[in-house]
Amino acid sequence: MTLDEIIAARQSCRSYDPSRPVSKEALSALIESARLAPSACNSQTWRFVVVTDRTMLDTIHAEGMRMGVGNNFLKEAPALIIGCSKLDLLANTVGRTISGIDYYQVDLGIAMEHMVLKATELGLGTCWIGWFHEKSIKKLLGIPRGVKITALLSVGYPKQGDPLREKKRKATEEIAMWEKW
Ligand SMILES: Cc1cc2nc3c(=O)[nH]c(=O)nc-3n(C[C@H](O)[C@H](O)[C@H](O)COP(=O)(O)O)c2cc1C
Repeated sequence: MTLDEIIAARQSCRSYDPSRPVSKEALSALIESARLAPSACNSQTWRFVVVTDRTMLDTIHAEGMRMGVGNNFLKEAPALIIGCSKLDLLANTVGRTISGIDYYQVDLGIAMEHMVLKATELGLGTCWIGWFHEKSIKKLLGIPRGVKITALLSVGYPKQGDPLREKKRKATEEIAMWEKW
């Protein structure tokens, strides 16, 4: 697949084939794609916890999602990647103080989107999950202080009949300006 084909094929997958596990090799390939991502001052603030244990996945679904948005597809997804950020690195504090930007969020976003695109190349579906209960998941997985969960990513093979949907996006003219705002 070309990069354009991967970008066009990627969509949030909310329907997984629970009978098809994702191999450790495939999950490792996702981590490797994240490992090579750029980050502010090359600080590599990201850390990832890969969860494939069904009981733990069900517990995260039951206890780790925010009220109102159940993200019920987690009941079928065979893997979940917990995207964490180490906040106790100097680069974080310095960057935030000088520029007011939390670069760890940018770092994590880039690294996880690398994973998303790599997963698409491997025929895997993914869905970003931002609506979770951080405290509960940290406790369940023993994630230490000084580490923040920034986003989750479900991973699995899409169920048959999860066709490509139309991408509803704003017009280019609305989002991009040339030379001046
Ligand atoms: C940071 C972030 C958080 C998201 N959180 C959720 C979520 O909790 N549940 C969900 O079903 N989708 C979630 N999404 C997926 C978006 O809804 C989705 O990307 C958007 O609607 C565009 O659709 P597409 O990904 O199929 O192109 C999230 C996406 C991002 C980037």
